[in-house]
Amino acid sequence: MVKIPTLYGSDAQEKRQEIKDYFQYCYKRYESLFTLVSEEKVYFEKADSLRHPIIFYYGHTATFFINKLKLAKISDERINPKLESLFAVGVDEMSWDDLNEKHYDWPSLAETQQYRDDVYTLVSKLIDTLPLTLPINEESPWWVIMMGIEHENIHLETSSVLLRQLPLSSIKENTQWEACPLMGEAPKNELLDVRAGQVTLGRSKDAKFFAWDNEYGEHQAQIPAFKAAKYLTSNAEYLEFVQDDGYTHDTFWCEEGKAWKAYTQAKHPLFWSPSKDGYMLRILSKNIELPKNWPVEVNYLEAAAFCQWKSQERRYYHYPSYRR
Ligand SMILES: [Fe+2]
Repeated sequence: MVKIPTLYGSDAQEKRQEIKDYFQYCYKRYESLFTLVSEEKVYFEKADSLRHPIIFYYGHTATFFINKLKLAKISDERINPKLESLFAVGVDEMSWDDLNEKHYDWPSLAETQQYRDDVYTLVSKLIDTLPLTLPINEESPWWVIMMGIEHENIHLETSSVLLRQLPLSSIKENTQWEACPLMGEAPKNELLDVRAGQVTLGRSKDAKFFAWDNEYGEHQAQIPAFKAAKYLTSNAEYLEFVQDDGYTHDTFWCEEGKAWKAYTQAKHPLFWSPSKDGYMLRILSKNIELPKNWPVEVNYLEAAAFCQWKSQERRYYHYPSYRR
């Protein structure tokens, strides 16, 4: 495991090596996720009808480096202008007609792999040669390198969700991506007291690690005392809501939640499926018996409905949020 480099340090040469190790580790880890795809034709299928085919996500994170480096005038090199246009932009939820496949002429897996290899070489070379002054700040060319790495890390998570949406016949097992072995009964959750006080949100300009622009800024607020759950909501806790017909009773759901439920016909979280003894959970390459102690994975609307259901206990429950 490689550590996330801080933006600070006294030895530029050491920092260069640290960032290079981090870049190469993250880049290869992203590629390794896609070795779960069973065969090439699956790359051209959509795991989700509102997303691009898998091949887009494979090429996109490499293109992001090139497009950002060019924009910041750090490197003028285009490796493959056609791919850099195709892989540039994901799906804009406001223009679903972009999903018309006739508008896209996706490259083969081999061509995309060659492209990824070329980007890997180019970025590694830049890391070897770019002037480096510490600490790294937003004006530094290294900021763009860090941004490219963290952008790929975000896509590691979102692409793993897409792979879980593919049928199991489109996936092959890979020992690098095994299930977390910590499965068992859920710990009993409880509410802990949080004292009233002043809280500060936002990240300061001299923060230790790279952050996205919307994480900066500062806001202070006086928060009254409240109670917070000790643990994340487990599958076991959410199962009680499902078994209490939580998805059937509209009373727990907001307007948007009701519309979503009517559209998706959801009866339980996306990755659950009913079995004879309860529920199975789809993980990357298989279905397993629902681990009771894992945190439940739900969307915002489901979380809000769960809180409404919990609030029947004469206590008002709310998901963590920030409101003015
Ligand atoms: Fe992206």
